[in-house]
Amino acid sequence: MFAARTHWNLALNRYTEAIDAARRAGRSLLDLTASNPTSVGFTYERERILGALQHENALQYEPASKGILAARRAVSGYYAERGIAVDTERLVLTVSTSEAYSYCFRLLCDPGDEVLVPSPSYPLFDFLADIQDVKLVPYELVYDHGWQIEFGSLRRKITPRTRAILVVHPNNPTGHFTKAWEMERLNEVCREHDLVLVSDEVFLDYGLAEQAAPLSFAANQKALTFTLSGLSKIAALPQIKVAWLAVSGPEAVAREAMERLDVIADTYLSPNAPVQWAVPELLATREGIQRQLNERVRRNLAELDAQLAAAKLTTRLEFDAGWYAVLRTSAYRTDEDLAIALIEGEGVLVHPGHFFDFPGAGYLVVSLITPEAEFREGLGRALRALDEAGK
Ligand SMILES: Cc1ncc(COP(=O)(O)O)c(C=O)c1O
Repeated sequence: MFAARTHWNLALNRYTEAIDAARRAGRSLLDLTASNPTSVGFTYERERILGALQHENALQYEPASKGILAARRAVSGYYAERGIAVDTERLVLTVSTSEAYSYCFRLLCDPGDEVLVPSPSYPLFDFLADIQDVKLVPYELVYDHGWQIEFGSLRRKITPRTRAILVVHPNNPTGHFTKAWEMERLNEVCREHDLVLVSDEVFLDYGLAEQAAPLSFAANQKALTFTLSGLSKIAALPQIKVAWLAVSGPEAVAREAMERLDVIADTYLSPNAPVQWAVPELLATREGIQRQLNERVRRNLAELDAQLAAAKLTTRLEFDAGWYAVLRTSAYRTDEDLAIALIEGEGVLVHPGHFFDFPGAGYLVVSLITPEAEFREGLGRALRALDEAGK
């Protein structure tokens, strides 16, 4: 009865079962995977946000395929603050970055076409690609005092069906971002093989203070480029459901991409009026919330480093940006087994690395926006247990 693309294995995995069992038994878990910014104790500008959603113009229906101009102007202003000119005619609003991905896949790929995606990375792509009949082909990121693209692996994965190279910039959860030399190499590969770049920049504003800020691909003119971002991370408002994609690149192909995207967007007209009219104000709240997020990340990272200094069997990987830290621990068991043991034995929740396709065992991922007291206590329990068990 159902399409083959939806033949997913939807059974609970052992990790999710362990969480369910702990909660059913009434155990409260210290959640070091907390990454919903609206539920980790930040102070939002309540009146300003709720007020923005009551814009007078929202009573009118004015269908606009790319999204209303006032909202696109605000997004263009976001890039202007980074010194990048993004024409409002080269922007399309969507309800989520996931929807922006769908538009890109629909624009670029016929069924069975391939998109190169970084590994390790964020797992949502698998479903997105299945739904759009796109085949994802991983290219490797390698870790050597920091992550970088393994260009040999990337080039080997290109086939006649490859349409696009996806970068998560900064990456979730490795926290590295694409450096200027990598951008140049990516442009070369795209030119040689007639490929398109798709850059997911939802974490662009969360660079660690001591690092140079990442450059946005929205300025890239050397290959056809789709830059995706949205309010879910930038303004820490995932519930508002506003994102966008910006098109840049050689003029003729960028114009044609835009004409076709316009039809896709016009077919759905997804973003609703109250939210679109609120975009300028909501985007303007980002400064205050980003300050709180960056401060939380800085403090939890300092706590992590202090505790790791005393741990025997666990270290962390270097990173440049984002909300996550990757722990490397003794790989005497699979990381799923480790994560389950931490739930059952310590009441602590961490992500096993295989969720993100880390190479091999021994990787665990923790969220640095976890409330600080919970982070300190949960991390202490986890590191002690990892040291004990790995003896
Ligand atoms: C790298 C990355 N891209 C995209 C998304 C999804 O964003 P949205 O809520 O706009 O669909 C997430 C969510 O965590 C993410 O981590």
